[in-house]
Amino acid sequence: MSSSREPVEVAVCMGSSCFSRGNKNNIKVIKDFIERHGLCDKVKLKGHLCEGLCKDGPNVSLDGQVFHCIDAASISVLLEQEVKMQE
Ligand code: FES
Repeated sequence: MSSSREPVEVAVCMGSSCFSRGNKNNIKVIKDFIERHGLCDKVKLKGHLCEGLCKDGPNVSLDGQVFHCIDAASISVLLEQEVKMQE
């Protein structure tokens, strides 16, 4: 029997507003986090187009829950929390 859970889906808004205001860097931080912690099979990273929430961006969703005003520090904290919950 396997106890493995579905991977956490991290969805980064790649619309021009979110991208230029921080997601360009956030996606690098996320990729680096996944590599550093060997989480390729536990975290599924994807990008999506603008969802009309630009004024609250940069936006990143974890398993469908949208987080706003994300920067490198806050995305690291969110990922760490999410990974701990998986353990
Ligand atoms: S560019 Fe991200 S919500 Fe519009």
